[in-house]
Amino acid sequence: MKFVTDISFKNKKALIRVDFNVPLDNHKKVVDSARILAAKPTIDYIINDGGACVLMSHLGRPKGRDQNLSLKHILKQIQQCLSREVAFINDCVGPEVEKAANSIKPGEVLMLENLRFYDEEIKGEEEFSEKLSKVGDVYVNDAFGTTHRAHASTSTVAKFFIEKCAGLLLKKEIESINRILVSKKRPVTAIIGGAKVSSKITIIKNMLSVVDNLLIGGGMAYTFIKAQGGGVGNSILEPDRVAGCLELIGEAERQGALILLPKDVVAAEEFKNNSKTKIVDSYSIDEGWMGLDIGPETEKAFNKVIQESQTILWNGPMGVFEMNSFSKGTKAVASSVVEATKKGAFSLVGGGDSVAALKKFNIYNKVSCVSTGGGAMLESLEGKVLPGIKALKT
Ligand code: 3PG
Ligand code: MG
Repeated sequence: MKFVTDISFKNKKALIRVDFNVPLDNHKKVVDSARILAAKPTIDYIINDGGACVLMSHLGRPKGRDQNLSLKHILKQIQQCLSREVAFINDCVGPEVEKAANSIKPGEVLMLENLRFYDEEIKGEEEFSEKLSKVGDVYVNDAFGTTHRAHASTSTVAKFFIEKCAGLLLKKEIESINRILVSKKRPVTAIIGGAKVSSKITIIKNMLSVVDNLLIGGGMAYTFIKAQGGGVGNSILEPDRVAGCLELIGEAERQGALILLPKDVVAAEEFKNNSKTKIVDSYSIDEGWMGLDIGPETEKAFNKVIQESQTILWNGPMGVFEMNSFSKGTKAVASSVVEATKKGAFSLVGGGDSVAALKKFNIYNKVSCVSTGGGAMLESLEGKVLPGIKALKT
């Protein structure tokens, strides 16, 4: 696979797939511009190399031409993040778009309209992909967050280009994932949390052959605890996954990976911030009570493992951190990861909730790498070959 640094962009137009699918507030202001900022190095690189950039992205999941999801609403913020003028055209294929793309000069940037205004995008249609390919000389994919989608702009379009490559963001994300999956810097520890074990079973299975330690917190821990015969009271539980969790525990033993589950939890009577709470043994939670965060003993045990680690992956919160009463465990784990990073460990954090937690606790810049991909990061860690990456290789 080629990278932008392997190609000369002098007097060429790069058609760059970026992932500007950013969260918006009610006034269509960008709430988190991390994904836009993350595309800047590639755009700067191509322009410094003498090229022009045509940017394409999706925003949300529109059904047809939904003007609420037009990229024009975020154009100003795109310009601010990229620190340059960006022209905009209200379509992404067709003669007008080709004309606009043909008229841009080296050093200029043109943003196309939301790709998903066309159903053909999601279907990965050939004809639509060929039309897209008309507006660039080189295809660059820098949309890591969308590489798990086999869409026209992320996958099919690549076949219509002789010159194609990965952008600097995509490169960095692939390298970070590889530092976890094929790391030589041991011990390797994965901290996995979140509400549902069903969404993380495949990734845990794949991680068992990679990691030395697997720390499990969040709502998903209770299905594991139940599988080991614990009483979890009213805690969140996926009964149809109990057997799967038991299998994972057995598999971990065979692979020599240490699984650590919470010893104690913060139990609450009600699912609300001002509920009555108590710290209890996680294997004997009273009926009517539910575990909503890891307890202090667990914090200590997790911290010890994290401090001894050289490579750390963190995906998913340890409790209902959105409520202050149940945010302590997630904060403690976040601080442990930051401390280990300071001592030289490599740390990768991904997934919407863990990234939100980093922001909440003001430590966003204190880990080695924050992934811009949710689903894309999980699928990479599951060991899948992502269509957006595969397309650059063929
Ligand atoms: C994301 O935010 O997950 C990516 O931008 C992909 O969007 P999608 O989940 O709507 O395909
Ligand atoms: Mg998604």
